[in-house]
Amino acid sequence: MGIRLEKLVVKFGDFKALNEVTLQIPKGKLVSLLGPSGSGKSTTLFTISGIHKPHSGKIYFGDRDVTGLEPEELGIGLVFQNYALYPHMTVRENILFPLKNLKWDKAEAEKRALEVAKIVKIESQLDKKPAQLSGGQQQRVAIARALAKKPDILLLDEPLSNLDTKLRVETRQEIRRIQKETGVTAIFVTHDQEEAMSISDEIVLMKDGAIQQVSSPSDIYMNPVNKFVASFIGSPEMNFINLECKEGTSIIDSLIIENLPKNKSKVILGVRAEDFEVADKGLKTKVVTVEILGRERLLTLDHNGIKYKMLVDKEFFIDEGAELIIKPKTGKSYVFDAESEEFITKC
Ligand SMILES: Nc1ncnc2c1ncn2[C@@H]1O[C@H](COP(=O)(O)OP(=O)(O)OP(=O)(O)O)[C@@H](O)[C@H]1O
Ligand SMILES: [Mg+2]
Repeated sequence: MGIRLEKLVVKFGDFKALNEVTLQIPKGKLVSLLGPSGSGKSTTLFTISGIHKPHSGKIYFGDRDVTGLEPEELGIGLVFQNYALYPHMTVRENILFPLKNLKWDKAEAEKRALEVAKIVKIESQLDKKPAQLSGGQQQRVAIARALAKKPDILLLDEPLSNLDTKLRVETRQEIRRIQKETGVTAIFVTHDQEEAMSISDEIVLMKDGAIQQVSSPSDIYMNPVNKFVASFIGSPEMNFINLECKEGTSIIDSLIIENLPKNKSKVILGVRAEDFEVADKGLKTKVVTVEILGRERLLTLDHNGIKYKMLVDKEFFIDEGAELIIKPKTGKSYVFDAESEEFITKC
């Protein structure tokens, strides 16, 4: 079942936590809500799940207007950060719990519990208590419990944040597999851009209660609509260079940048760390640190007190303290308006 939000406004007192959020989530897709702390991700999820009531705007599940309904009336599966399994119950009892509440026939419920336990690959652990499971296993039980009642919609709020890095990566792949296998429409909240990039069909990037961009992972990386999106997506963060320009040309050190918007006197140039190259003429920088990342080396460079990040091949050897002249690769930089910070063009 698809989800549609129309001009959703959520207020806490006078504070607008969501400011006219309009969003369409297609049936069977996994969409991530991504953004910094306080941007309104959880508020969006809680409002969709009926826990918060919107001040104005509409929520549709398919064609059904569900605005203002209570969580129990919505039949959605919810998974939260602290997986909140009942510690005194076994895994089996945890998964059966929502079905008992819904007064499922006992044999049917047992059958369903085993079915979802198999989907999340926890069927050999059914008689254990949560404390006897690893964090990743507990998380999968929480997902099984949410899936048990066959929801059309699964909402997950930072479900992996209690797990260590390796388990996070494994569990997010599991979530994606389960989501595809069951065909459930899923909204996945995270503040981790890499996590969002790796599992989503679409990413919804939020800031201050408003949507900045909705795009596929590759598109949001390649075509950010503004400086905020460009800086939030990608690691290391995009470099930004403030340029003064005249007639579409800007000169810093011996670097001449052309094809800038002719009607602007100031722009911001965004350059990803992989899009700088060593040059004869360019920005004169000093190498501050060299970090070995494995396949690549990450240089931190100082240019008149401003730090830039540059990724180079692992065979590129340079000492800290050395001088390095660099320039952005042609056609790879992003030009943003200095005032509105909106994307203008590439150059
Ligand atoms: N119950 C509440 N009462 C008052 N203000 C709230 C309430 N819940 C959230 N807020 C405020 O609304 C804004 C959005 O909060 P929300 O929890 O949606 O952020 P978030 O994007 O999920 O952040 P995080 O990544 O930290 O979880 C914040 O400024 C927060 O302080
Ligand atoms: Mg949150």
